Amino acid sequence: MILHIDPQNIDPEIVARAAKVLRDGGLVAFPTETVYGLGANALDAVAVEKIFAAKQRPHFNPLIVHLPDTSRVLEVAAQWPEKAQILAEHFWPGPLTLVLPKRDIVPDRVTAGLNTVAVRVPQHPVAQALLQAAQIPVAAPSANLFMQLSPTRAQHVAQSLENRVDLILDGGPCNVGIESTVLSLADETPVLLRPGSVSRTQIEKLIGPVASPQEPKNDTPRLAPGMLERHYAPRAKLVMFEGREELKQAIYNNCGDGIWIGALLLNLDATSPEVGYGITFPVVMPHDAQEYARKLYEQLHALDELGCVAILVESVPDFPAWDGIRDRLQRAGFQEK
Ligand code: TXA
Ligand code: MG
Repeated sequence: MILHIDPQNIDPEIVARAAKVLRDGGLVAFPTETVYGLGANALDAVAVEKIFAAKQRPHFNPLIVHLPDTSRVLEVAAQWPEKAQILAEHFWPGPLTLVLPKRDIVPDRVTAGLNTVAVRVPQHPVAQALLQAAQIPVAAPSANLFMQLSPTRAQHVAQSLENRVDLILDGGPCNVGIESTVLSLADETPVLLRPGSVSRTQIEKLIGPVASPQEPKNDTPRLAPGMLERHYAPRAKLVMFEGREELKQAIYNNCGDGIWIGALLLNLDATSPEVGYGITFPVVMPHDAQEYARKLYEQLHALDELGCVAILVESVPDFPAWDGIRDRLQRAGFQEK
């Protein structure tokens, strides 16, 4: 069932109903400022198991626990380091997730057996209202089937999960558009596990150097799904290119009679012959990283819906503000050799 809810004028009855579903062990899909989440009571292992079943998500992937405000973190985390306090003051509520040592109360299902828990205080008014009404920590991955594109509209959730959730709250499109930045503060040196709209530069200005995760060796299991090489993928084959020559090659490699090709363009003109010749649906993307992120999944969903076989994506700038976008595009385009 889908219920519309106006983020500017929240209907407390709808929120109360959704909160009750969560407290009763059900699944509620709800908007956050990043992407839609698929929520369940984080302290109820049976409810959390339903998330994994609905998403067909492997159990080695830990979930983020959502809280209404900073004062609730110590209900699930065992420590609140000074660096966490500094970051929370600047970025919460908002698109930053912190990984901290966990408390025993958090079921192993949530953390995939790790001794840490990921926590986030989201900013979206509907997420805020829901978390405050539910009065329980809410585990919520992105509300999509495993490996697929994250949803930035309720309709995206409905397309992949409608019959697998108890309730979908439709609060309109998500403002940030890509998943939160994930930073581990579990050890001495902070580690940036997943880039997002809160950039490494912004974090380092406040708490000093941040390390990158170690590349997993080929034969070791990858514990973080956001670190899987292929992830966040549309159904269409995603191919990155740089400049006109590579675009021509990409068109040549992917075109064919009756085959529809989409493209996300940044600098190339949609009217240039290279584009006009081979691309069925050229989309001109914004030059601002935040606006690009807001549009990214929405455009990939739309090109998938149109039936594109390939989506050619012009490579994005090599600046910290674009790290999250570049990361998602690389994973979406990764092909097993
Ligand atoms: O923006 C977001 O973060 C959205 C909204 C709904 O909040 N959620 C989201 O969840 O993207 P999900 O499950 O798709 O991604 C969770 C990420 C994964 O990369 C996972 O590996 C990491 O957080 N993560 C969760 N718990 C962790 C832990 N204890 N240690 C390391 N990484 C963890
Ligand atoms: Mg996800």
